[in-house]
Amino acid sequence: MLLTVTLNPCVDYLLRVETMAANDTNRVKRQEKDAGGKGLNTSRVYAHLRGVTIATGFLGGATSSFIRHVMKEENVLDGFVYVEGETRTNFSVEDESGNPPTTFNQRGPTISPGEWLALKEKVGMLAAKAEWVSFGGSLPPGVETNAFYELALIAREKGSKIVVDADGAVLSESLKAMPDFIKPNTPEAGRVLGRELKTDDEVIQASRDLHTMIGGGDRIAVISRGAKGAVMTCGTGTYVGISPNVKPLSTIGSGDSMIAGMLWAMGQGNPPAEALQWGLAAGAATALTDGSAIGDKATIERLLPEAVVKPVGS
Ligand SMILES: Nc1ncnc2c1ncn2[C@@H]1O[C@H](COP(=O)(O)OP(=O)(O)OP(=O)(O)O)[C@@H](O)[C@H]1O
Ligand SMILES: [Mg+2]
Repeated sequence: MLLTVTLNPCVDYLLRVETMAANDTNRVKRQEKDAGGKGLNTSRVYAHLRGVTIATGFLGGATSSFIRHVMKEENVLDGFVYVEGETRTNFSVEDESGNPPTTFNQRGPTISPGEWLALKEKVGMLAAKAEWVSFGGSLPPGVETNAFYELALIAREKGSKIVVDADGAVLSESLKAMPDFIKPNTPEAGRVLGRELKTDDEVIQASRDLHTMIGGGDRIAVISRGAKGAVMTCGTGTYVGISPNVKPLSTIGSGDSMIAGMLWAMGQGNPPAEALQWGLAAGAATALTDGSAIGDKATIERLLPEAVVKPVGS
């Protein structure tokens, strides 16, 4: 079983207009509404692959019922802690200019010390049944930067393996828990290491350095590179992954999908190098979907043969 932790989930609203006019009335041509949040995305892709997964974190207010509806539809078990405040809604407005959308991101509900305590108990209880616990995404107000670190230690004590997908100080703090698996993208990896990663060789070295930072051995450090694929260092060496060549619609959630694909494949008994192939296919499948939508099983399986993983130096 996979447990995912999303502390600040959201409802994503995407409004499509012809031309975006500030300080004026805009007519909406089409709108999309979806549940968002890194852990939640990972659970959804994992469930698409027919894996058993439960999602936890904080949910509150009227917006939470929409997220619960999506989880039910997609066979993600609901382990969320209910909080006083309201789960956030993020708005994006996209026009036909081809420019990136204008986005409005809310901060999310303020978490009380009692609610934080309730989550720690919940993670401990659910982690006891999980092979992997996946932590991802931003933190709501009231939650400390070391939140994933604290929760990861609880999960590990219950015998689970840990994967962290975060950025900046939250990722740096989490690394102290020596996660079993990390998957920053290139800029995130660069920020943690304090250097820019431009060339292939620089990214390869970075994946080796991150692997050492989390304790080496059988741990897995993947750096994802969007259309360029990914680089991974694990117990059996360093590998370069080439992603299927797709025409992307929106890559939001590609990284979360990659984690789901890899965890699912490892759960089927595959070693990390084969799991990376599934990760590349799952990331590319999500890149093929619009907005915050995620890839489905049939597309992942169709793209799988086009994802190539080679050991470095071969
Ligand atoms: N344009 C693309 N074409 C093909 N594959 C892609 C593309 N974008 C992403 N992918 C696949 O998805 C994987 C993860 O993507 P990416 O590096 O963009 O993650 P990310 O930045 O963490 O994304 P997010 O945080 O939005 O989920 C890539 O390694 C690749 O396999
Ligand atoms: Mg990411």
